[in-house]
Order: sequence, then C-alpha cells, then structure tokens
Amino acid sequence: MKKKVNIGIIGCGSVFRSMHLPSLINLTDKFNIVSIFDTDKNAIKLTKKIINNYSRVKYTDSAEVIFRDPEIDAVAVLTGTSVHVKYTLQALKHGKHVFLEKPAAVLPKDVKRIIAAEKKYRRFVQVGMVLRYSSFYEELCRIIDSQKYGRVLWMNWLETRPFDPMLWRYNNSAENGDAIIHDKAVHQINLFNRFAGAKPAETAAFGGQYLINPKTYSKVRAFRNEVMLKGDSNDNLMAIIKYKNGVKASITVSYVSPHARESRWIIQLEKAKIIAHFETFVSSNRATKRKWEGNPSSIYLFADNKKYPVVWKYPMSYPPNENNLVFYDEYKDEPMHPGSGAQWKAFYGTVTKSSKPESSTKVALDDIIVAKAIDEAIKKKKVIRINH
Ligand SMILES: NC(=O)c1ccc[n+]([C@@H]2O[C@H](COP(=O)([O-])OP(=O)(O)OC[C@H]3O[C@@H](n4cnc5c(N)ncnc54)[C@H](O)[C@@H]3O)[C@@H](O)[C@H]2O)c1
Repeated sequence: MKKKVNIGIIGCGSVFRSMHLPSLINLTDKFNIVSIFDTDKNAIKLTKKIINNYSRVKYTDSAEVIFRDPEIDAVAVLTGTSVHVKYTLQALKHGKHVFLEKPAAVLPKDVKRIIAAEKKYRRFVQVGMVLRYSSFYEELCRIIDSQKYGRVLWMNWLETRPFDPMLWRYNNSAENGDAIIHDKAVHQINLFNRFAGAKPAETAAFGGQYLINPKTYSKVRAFRNEVMLKGDSNDNLMAIIKYKNGVKASITVSYVSPHARESRWIIQLEKAKIIAHFETFVSSNRATKRKWEGNPSSIYLFADNKKYPVVWKYPMSYPPNENNLVFYDEYKDEPMHPGSGAQWKAFYGTVTKSSKPESSTKVALDDIIVAKAIDEAIKKKKVIRINH
C-alpha cells in the first residue's frame, strides 16, 4: 500500500475551505490531514462545519506543535501573505516539505531566503500556482512548445473580477503585497514568464484606485457582502513586460467589475493566434456540490498552414468555430478551480519522491521580481529595468 502523506495546515481561511479542502477530501488515498492551526477562532469554527468526519483532525493552538510533530511529513501554509515566509522557513527547518500558497513572498530577497533554506534542509516548497496544474495550461504548453506555429511574439491578458471580500488584501501592501499585483496579476505574470521563453527585461505600468479610495465610495459590494474598503493597494493595473528576446506581454487586471470573473488571453505566435477564455465564471450552483455550471475554459487556435510568397498577402478571417476550437473544459474533475486537485496530486509526488515541483520557488522568484518591478514602475512613474 502506498504511503499516505500526513499534513499539517496553517491557515484554514477561505482558500483552504473552498479549494484545498474539497481537493484533499477527494484524495484521501494520498493525504491525511493531521492538524490545523489558525489564529482566528471563526475560521476554525467554519472549518469544523465542513470537515465533519473526513478525518480525526486535531486543532492546535500554535504552529509550533505542527512543526514539531514527527508524524507530519508536510505543511501547507495557506495564511494571508504577510506570514508566508516566516512559516515556510520554520517548516523547512523542521524537515517538512511545504505547500505554500501564492504569492510566495512580497520581495524577491525573501523568496531567495526560502530557496536557500530548501537547499540547506533538503526539502521542497511547491507554490500554489494552481493554473500550472490545469489541463488548460497543459494544452497551451502543448501548442506553444510544439513550435509548429513559430515563436511567441506578444501576449495580452485581460482579467476583470469583483472585489474579493478578504480585506487584509488591500491593506499594508509592504507586508501583504499589492492586491492587484502580488495577489492577482502574479498568476498572469507566472504564465507569461513560462511562455515568453526568456527572462523579463523591463516593465512599464500604471495602477490606481477606483473603488478602494473612500473619497469615491463609502461602501462597495464584494461578492455577497457590502464592505468598506480602504487601504494602500491598487485595484486596477495595466502593465507591459518586455522580455530579453523581445517578446512583449501586457496585462489589464481589474477588481472593479460587478460581474463574475472574466479572463481572456491572446497569444500571438508567428504563424498562429491563440485566443483563450479562461475561468469565465457566470454562476455557481451550490446544489451541484461546487461544480461550476456553464463556465468553459476554451482555447481557439487560428492558424493558416498554407504557404504564401509574401507574409499576410491573403489575410483571412476565421470566426471561432469547431474547426479552431482545440480545447474546451468544464472543470469536470476539479473541485472549485481547474488545477486544484492536480496540484495536490503533484504535491504528493513532491513529498514522496522528494522531487522538484513544476511550480517551484525558482519559478516564483521570477514572478516576484516582475511583481516588484511593476510596483516600482507605478510608484516611480517610469520604465523599470529588471535586475536578476
Ligand atoms: N491560488 C489561488 O487561486 C488562491 C486563491 C485565493 C487565495 N490565495 C492565497 O491564499 C492565501 C490565503 O487567502 P484566503 O483568501 O484564504 O485568505 P483568508 O483571510 O480567508 O484566510 C487566511 C487565514 O490565515 C489565517 N492567519 C492569518 N495570520 C495567521 C497566522 N499568523 N497564523 C495562523 N493563521 C493565520 C487567518 O486567520 C485566515 O483564516 C493568500 O496568500 C492568497 O493570496 C490563492
């Protein structure tokens, strides 16, 4: 019989309850939650309600108890961002592998500290870049890496969504990171970095506050709740990243949408264009146990394989149809989020085979380097050259 990985959970907030716990409940052959620690009694109360008799979980009153428990093989750090680094370093020091929610840290130097600790204690940290484990991502890798359509020239990603009701995200960006840059755009940056095929070289960016600013609105709606938002974080961002090989990537990300999340991506290759719709949520139906309804991820590939003497001599138009639809997924096998179950299956391999994860801290370092450069570009109002 295969060994079950015993895990300790630090932070049982919304991402644990809505995404990780359903995944772990589906993977009881691989994981056993031994202990949970959270500083918030309400988070524990809500967790107890969902966890039922899934396993005989212990609720501890300190993270130390989890780190010192010899039965525990790995720790999941799922807290707010400000304590990611502290807990990850402690867990590594106690010989535990770590599943760390994104963003790994706010500053590149802290990601470097984690990388050094991984080497020192010979353990791995897998960063919760959930999209890296989605079938959507695999399909894009397949198309781009085949090189059948030439190299990537530019990428553009637009994502709009409503405010997330986690108010800590908008406050104290020095410790929590900027909500729209470190918390949201980090997903886009992560995939841009993967598909650009070179290191990022420079960035220009504009950000701002449409809704966080209490001078504009006293309250805004965040999902079901009305909340008073204030903080030093941006709620919208437009940024361009230029890579060392000339590839350009631009993002527009905004929390200022009364409508559910919409995510659209264009990747222009030399001989084809990819249009991808990702996580275009319309509604969720709780009765179907958190399966999203009618919310496809789709990838259209527009390619012209004919040979012409002159590039674009015969420009053609291809409306999206079955011929150019290469991928369509309704998240059938994933609770809540594409990649959410797959990332835990991968983490099982990270722990049992002690192998470096796809979403490694080395990958996260480049993400955080870009996030910091974008932050600086906004603050200094100038183009920032990226130093590695
Ligand atoms: N990968 C994704 O798609 C995704 C989605 C949502 C959130 N996240 C990330 O997950 C993390 C948590 O986000 P969330 O939405 O669950 O926030 P949350 O506020 O709902 O949950 C965080 C939990 O951590 C607890 N906590 C805070 N400080 C602590 C401490 N010092 N010790 C122990 N517990 C502590 C809080 O009490 C809370 O219950 C964030 O870093 C966020 O960026 C990732």
